[in-house]
Amino acid sequence: MPEATETAAPAAALSPRERLVFPLDVPDLDSALSCASLLGGTVGWFKIGLELFTALGPDSVARVRDAAPDCGIFLDLKLHDIPATVAGAMRQASRLGAGLVTVHAQGGSEMLRAAAGAAGDDTRVLAVTVLTSLNPAAMSELAPWFREPGELAVKLARRAMDAACHGLVCSPQEVPRLRRLHGHDPLLVVPGVRPQWARVDNDDQVRTGTPAQAIADGADLLVVGRPIRDAPDPPAAAARLCEEIAEALDSSPPRRGPRGWPPPDMAGTTPPGPDPGTWPGQRLPARTRAGMTGPPPPGPDPGGHDRSPVSRPGPRHMAETTPPGPDPGGHDRTPASRSGPSRT
Ligand code: C5P
Repeated sequence: MPEATETAAPAAALSPRERLVFPLDVPDLDSALSCASLLGGTVGWFKIGLELFTALGPDSVARVRDAAPDCGIFLDLKLHDIPATVAGAMRQASRLGAGLVTVHAQGGSEMLRAAAGAAGDDTRVLAVTVLTSLNPAAMSELAPWFREPGELAVKLARRAMDAACHGLVCSPQEVPRLRRLHGHDPLLVVPGVRPQWARVDNDDQVRTGTPAQAIADGADLLVVGRPIRDAPDPPAAAARLCEEIAEALDSSPPRRGPRGWPPPDMAGTTPPGPDPGTWPGQRLPARTRAGMTGPPPPGPDPGGHDRSPVSRPGPRHMAETTPPGPDPGGHDRTPASRSGPSRT
């Protein structure tokens, strides 16, 4: 398969915070809202997945957005049905205001095309290639004619991009290959991210990688759940991830952003509120809560980007304050020039 060549595209313009997605893998509204309040200033997106959506339905989207108006909503429904049904579900997801919505790439080209066609202007359709929980043995039960999960992921990714999907969900291990094949075009969203310092009990993720490696290889957004959720201090863990993302961006060669970017409007303009509350089932030390909303550390940022995610204005806010400018052809590394997500 020929490798992609670089073509004109908008700059990535993604701050470390905008690259971090936290999945709200919790069973009830109170837990979801606690997480959203506590992490809203540190992560860029909240992912509402099957557990929360099944429990609360569409209301979950509105409630999370109200709790974290500065963040985008990623509706991870992993739609997989006949084209007409998926198109209908995608239309509804768009109406709810979800900026990112997933479908299964294994649903076939017609289904993928129907999904991409039904999404509104502010919704990006992500095709899930091969779940990061599948190891080669599990995959050989499903598709023995593929030698390893990456091979199937490549095939499904091609199908999804040909069907006009905006991006792909893939394991960290497949990022280099997909970037090489598709250039900057797809928005690559990567779960199975495991920082070296994270401890995840009974981990079901198999095809994993570190945040630094995923970013260096060309990932756009990282989905990080349990390493944050199960950390002794979740906001600090999220902030540490932003640091690692920032460092990886600094040491990677500049790369153009995906064609599907800027992403959808992330509703709201309000910075995170003053009381982030507590983590579900956990009372954090006062020092931590203050740290979430306190002023950024004094002094200039030697790295050229805002290293204090808690102080960073949100995506919509950034879109309003960023002057238009030429594509620098790489990561936007300076807060002043960061053009946050806005309507395309
Ligand atoms: O970091 P952690 O393993 O806790 O992240 C789990 C999240 O990643 C879940 O919300 C799950 O739905 C999501 N995920 C995904 N695609 C995969 C694997 C996991 O969106 N291929």
